[in-house]
Amino acid sequence: MTVLEATAVTKSFRGLQALRGVDISVEEGQILGIIGANGAGKTTLFNCITGAFAPTSGRVTLDGEDVTGLPAHQLARRGMVRTFQLMRPFATMSVLENVEIAAMSRGARGADVRREAARAVERTGLAEWAGRRSGSLPAGMQKRLELARALAMRPRVLLLDEVLAGLVPAERAPVLDLLEDLRRQEGTTMVFIEHIMAAVRRLSDHVVMMDQGAVLARGDAESVLSDPKVVEAYLGKETRSA
Ligand SMILES: Nc1ncnc2c1ncn2[C@@H]1O[C@H](COP(=O)(O)OP(=O)(O)OP(=O)(O)O)[C@@H](O)[C@H]1O
Ligand SMILES: [Mg+2]
Repeated sequence: MTVLEATAVTKSFRGLQALRGVDISVEEGQILGIIGANGAGKTTLFNCITGAFAPTSGRVTLDGEDVTGLPAHQLARRGMVRTFQLMRPFATMSVLENVEIAAMSRGARGADVRREAARAVERTGLAEWAGRRSGSLPAGMQKRLELARALAMRPRVLLLDEVLAGLVPAERAPVLDLLEDLRRQEGTTMVFIEHIMAAVRRLSDHVVMMDQGAVLARGDAESVLSDPKVVEAYLGKETRSA
């Protein structure tokens, strides 16, 4: 079953056409990787799908229902949750409090808030840091906090915007393991934007490569990553593709 579908999505910012008619679709329990150079429109696509802003035109469906332009909190209640490329925790609150707020934003109340938050903190390896002020965390831990907040919202569809960026290689493996567990144990459907090709290869059932606001290639990871158009437009120019 198709869980998430975006059809002919466009987005213009005054003069700039950031998205020029993008189609993606994700089946239940599948993982879609999105790659492409800086400025290709990847985060803008997430913003249009997850209710940060409405697309200029086009359609987004969740479980076959039109959700185009619905605000993020309504989408979260339907199970669509995203992480941000630029993290924005409440800096003066503790790690646990930040995760509790995420659990509440999904509708958890009372004892459920604590339970959901504690579970998400545990799963992301943040238990030792739970009482720390969020603003004082090192970058790698802030990334985990971003993921913990998403997990506390019990996503059915999880959109991850460069969740590995800024992590040293040793910090990446536990995050990848966690994402694989999520899919295996909970059947979570995922879309992830990533510049680290080893992660794209490991996680993706399908890959979409974006270039200048449009989809340039799609298919399984191997065929997309070896596509001459993709190498020319992205991989050949990137030094971050290791
Ligand atoms: N809110 C906005 N207002 C104006 N222009 C924007 C806005 N958001 C994105 N853009 C522009 O849209 C284009 C696509 O940006 P986007 O952030 O989607 O790229 P990206 O593929 O996520 O890149 P990166 O890999 O660097 O994160 C860029 O030219 C960017 O400057
Ligand atoms: Mg981006």
